[in-house]
Parts: sequence; structure tokens; C-alpha cells
Amino acid sequence: MSRLIVVSNRVSAPKDPAAGSAGGLAMALSAALRKYEGLWFGWSGETVETFVPEAKIEDRAGVTVALVDLEAQDVEEYYNGYANKTLWPLFHHRVDLTEYERSYGEGYERTNARFAEVLAPLIQPDDVIWIHDYHMIPLARDLRRRGIRNRIGFFLHTPWPARQLLVTLPHHRRLVESMFDYDLIGFHTREWLDLFRDYVASEPSVNGRLLPNDALEAFGKTVQTGVFPIGIDVDGFLAARNSALGTRTYDRMAASAAFRSMIVGVDRLDYSKGLEQRLLGYEQFLADNPDMRGEVFLLQVTPISRDDVDAYQDIRARLDALAGRINGEYADMDWQPIRYLNRTYRRDQLAGIYRAARVGLVTPLRDGMNLVAKEYIAAQNPEDPGVLILSRFAGAAEQMGEALLVNPFSREELSDAIKRALTMPLDERKRKWASLMQVVRDTDVGLWRDDFVACLRAIDRPADGED
Ligand code: G6P
Repeated sequence: MSRLIVVSNRVSAPKDPAAGSAGGLAMALSAALRKYEGLWFGWSGETVETFVPEAKIEDRAGVTVALVDLEAQDVEEYYNGYANKTLWPLFHHRVDLTEYERSYGEGYERTNARFAEVLAPLIQPDDVIWIHDYHMIPLARDLRRRGIRNRIGFFLHTPWPARQLLVTLPHHRRLVESMFDYDLIGFHTREWLDLFRDYVASEPSVNGRLLPNDALEAFGKTVQTGVFPIGIDVDGFLAARNSALGTRTYDRMAASAAFRSMIVGVDRLDYSKGLEQRLLGYEQFLADNPDMRGEVFLLQVTPISRDDVDAYQDIRARLDALAGRINGEYADMDWQPIRYLNRTYRRDQLAGIYRAARVGLVTPLRDGMNLVAKEYIAAQNPEDPGVLILSRFAGAAEQMGEALLVNPFSREELSDAIKRALTMPLDERKRKWASLMQVVRDTDVGLWRDDFVACLRAIDRPADGED
């Protein structure tokens, strides 16, 4: 079988897979790379004075990684700029936060061209290349310019925005045109794929055609598209939950809860996660249910993220103030309604925390998929499972309809859902959990990976000279 090359901005192949800190995606891709003797290519996270077009090759627990250093200006314009101040907010329907600086677009193009310059010589004729996420959309085009004719697939881990929003991006057409240099483009949900197809078919400057079986034609090229819902590494996650540290964390959490019901939220500190609305919804619940105060608490685990970007500093300050205000208003001498933490936990600790929580609160305003929803379900005790409250605007809602689906913009809806989750009878909780757990198993990350790679390998590329 030919080699697999994985490409992403962040190379998360773990140095020590046994350490338990790597996520399911990193583990699943690393396993495939070990099997197909592949390569994981991306940014090293380091900056250098002057860009050198050469990768540093390392071995990480049997996975070969090829890392590129970038100049500080690249990081500012490509990563902080176009990726995180332009595409991320736009793709999450936040045009109010989107910055449309020309220098960011130029830095994005320049950096992707640099990635192509370093990656192209590492590619062998039979390799299959799989590029991940919004940081590297034009990379296939840049590789093709360097004569790379291999199969190249792209997977978007975020939502795709509605056409009416995408057209606010200067050069939106150029961005989408570059996607037609892929052989396969994957999205998490039918909704994101349909929005992409709508742009291609309805945007007058593109005038593309919808073909059978989700293929598309535009810019004189065709591309195959598909829906590939990502999941978690179910067996790995269950092992983490049952490990010594997972069990110890559960015991510690249960002791600390002292018979109060725990509601848990775990999210990167990002404005797309709906954290302000979540805290306000929880405050509404405390206001609506005075008898339940003192009986519940919210554990909100929120590691700091992308803190060189203003919008992230702003939301951090707002959350600090809001959590402080709600605690100040409602806490008693022996009870605090919100435990707000900016630290990270290992996967085994998180599994123990989820297991101890009566309610999982996953309420992004928009999210590509959201794996916390799936991890929360996997961590539950089948005999006495907790209840998942899930935003209808997370990709996961397309599959997890048995969760309590909520509109995260509505405080009242959040308050009602929390009450309902906390008072749900055991047989209903068990029934919902069993059906959600089936979804979690059916969308295991290993199946997602194998499905995408098999689809990509099966695509017929035009022979030399035809495209
Ligand atoms: C999202 C994106 C990933 C990204 C991750 C963490 O899940 O889809 O591509 O790696 O956030 O963000 P960061 O900017 O720290 O890599």
C-alpha cells in the first residue's frame, strides 16, 4: 500500500503515546502513519529570522514528522492573521469579528507557497496526501504548480459558512477555485457540504455545476465531495476512563462534589463556544430554581487559546468578569455555583471528570463537529448515565438528536434544559444514552480516517497530460 502523507498546521503526533495527553485525532492519524510508513508535515511552532526551505525530520514514537520553521511575519499574517482573524470567525458566522486585511491574505498565500516548496520534494509518486483544515486550503494548488500529480484530499474541521457570508471575503472566488485542485473534499456534516455546494452552484462569478454523487464541476475541473463525520477513539477513551488516573480523578471529583450534581463544560477559550451565553443560561437556571441552588455546580474547564488575537483576549476578560459576577451574586459560604478553570487536563483526567458529571453542557454557537459531546457520552456509567445538552448548531447535533438539543442563544431554553436534564428519570436517561453511545461507536475516529482515505485512494486521477 502506498504511503500516506498527513498535512496540518499543528503536528500533534505525540512524543509518548502512553502519556495520555494526545487527543483521539492525533492518535488515529499517528496509527495510520505507522501502518502506511507515512509522514506528518506541518509548522514546527517555531520562528526563525530567515525562512529556510527545508524540513526538520524527527521520529515521534514510530511516526516520521517533517516540521517547518516560519518567520515571525508569516506567523502574524498567516496563523494569527488570515487563519485566525479572517477565516476562523468567518467560517463560524462571525462577520462582526472578521478582519479583512490585505496583508493577511498575502501572508496566507506566501506561507502556503512556502509549505509547498518544502513538502513537494518529500513526496514520492505513489503517496496519497491528506491536508487538514482552513490554514492550508490553497496548498493543493501550490503543490500542483510544482508538478505534484498525486491524489490529494482535503478535510475541513470547521463549519463551511453560508454563501451570503462567504462573499464578504475579498477573493472568495480565488479561495474556492484553489479547492478544485483537490481530488476529494470532506466535511463533517451534510449541512456544511450543502453550503459549499450552494456557493459553487449559485455564486454568479463561479457558475459551477452539481454532478451526481456529490461531485462538482467548476473552473474547468471536477472535484468529489463527501460527508465524513469525525468521532473519538472509543476504545482508547474507555481505557483512559478506566485507567488508574481516570479512576482516581473520578473518585476525587465525586468526593469534592459531595452529593451535589455536577454540570460540566470543557472548551477551548473561544468565542465560537458560546461560553458567555452558557454562563448566562446557567445564571437564569439559578434564578428560576431557587430550591436547586446549593444542590448543583458548574465545572467549566476552559484552556486559554490563541491569546495573541484581540478577540480572544476580549472574550477572556468578559468571561472572567461574568464568572466572578455570578459567583459573587449567588455563592454561599459553603457553596460556589461556578468553578471556572483556565487549565488543561490530560485525557484520562477528563474522562474521570466527565464520568462524575450528571450533565454535559456543550453549547457552541457554531462548531464543525464537537468531540466533547462524544467523549461525555463515552465516559458515562451505563447503569446511571448523565444527560447531554447539545447545541443544535454543533455539527454533532446532526447525528446526536437524542441529546437535549438547545438553541444556545436563548437563556431561557438553556435554563429549561438544565432543569430537565437534572430531573430526568433513570429509564429515560438510559434509553437516550444507549442510542447516543451507538452513534459514538458508529462514528469512531478510526472508521472516519479509513473511510476518507479509502475514498481518496479510489478516485481516478486523470492520466498525465489530461488535466
Ligand atoms: C480547532 C481547529 C484545529 C486547531 C484547534 C486548536 O479544532 O479545527 O485546526 O488545531 O482548533 O487551535 P490552535 O490554533 O491552537 O491550533
